[in-house]
Amino acid sequence: MTAQPALLDAAGKVALVTGATGGIGKACVEMFLAAGASVVATGRRAVQGDDPRVLKLALEVTDEAQVADAIAKAKARFGTIDYLVHMAGMVGKGRLNEMPLADWHTVVDTNLTSAFLLMKHAYPILRKPGATVVLCGSSNGANGGSYLSGAAYASSKAALVNLTRYTAKEWAAEGIRVNIISPGPVDTPMLDRLSDTQHDGLKAQLPLGKYATAEECAGGVMFLCSSHAASMTGTNMNISSGLVMDR
Ligand SMILES: NC(=O)c1ccc[n+]([C@@H]2O[C@H](COP(=O)([O-])OP(=O)(O)OC[C@H]3O[C@@H](n4cnc5c(N)ncnc54)[C@H](OP(=O)(O)O)[C@@H]3O)[C@@H](O)[C@H]2O)c1
Repeated sequence: MTAQPALLDAAGKVALVTGATGGIGKACVEMFLAAGASVVATGRRAVQGDDPRVLKLALEVTDEAQVADAIAKAKARFGTIDYLVHMAGMVGKGRLNEMPLADWHTVVDTNLTSAFLLMKHAYPILRKPGATVVLCGSSNGANGGSYLSGAAYASSKAALVNLTRYTAKEWAAEGIRVNIISPGPVDTPMLDRLSDTQHDGLKAQLPLGKYATAEECAGGVMFLCSSHAASMTGTNMNISSGLVMDR
């Protein structure tokens, strides 16, 4: 096999990225473009930028009709999807006994049900050897999280790991790989809700003493999409500054 020193050669490939208006999704879009891919960039707010290789779509990821429509628009514009990268997500908050049922459903639908919907509707055009899916978990899915993000967030992020394993097994025979990244705290707008004291407390729990960056998370996504990861499926990539130590 020819050596491939670059992380990802995505020339001629198409990536669909959700959460492209957020920190990690935006970094993924920029890295896919740098790697030569065309990109379908989705968010609820308007996606910024005017690169002609980017199809910008408004997408509420909990809405099945909108998900199906986004996949159809990606197919109409680019013919296929090679990389399905689902970074959209939201936190909850507060103690379990204080969480309204509606808030539970919103967080679970946004983080978990959305992944089911996206994979379900992308499957017909994903099913080819070399296609990859990358979902987004969290260290909260491994260590239980806390009231800062709430029970629905920790639970949905844990469930995403097993959804990754399930789909990885079901689709492996067709050459579709499915993996997940699980960041610890990442320096994105998602953490803007925390007070200085909460930031200090969180950083003190990190053996590496620093939050991850959106670019580090996107780099993990690029690796999982690349031929370097051709034998990796069902993998949960831990990007938590040591907060979670894998067993
Ligand atoms: N930042 C962290 O500390 C951290 C840690 C672990 C895991 N993560 C995970 O990393 C992923 C990306 O988060 P981030 O840090 O980049 O946060 P962010 O900057 O707040 O971005 C969140 C993104 O999710 C999108 N989104 C939320 N709800 C949506 C919905 N119902 N439909 C469509 N899009 C929706 C947002 O779109 P709009 O803004 O357009 O509404 C935005 O693009 C999430 O899955 C998050 O759980 C983050």
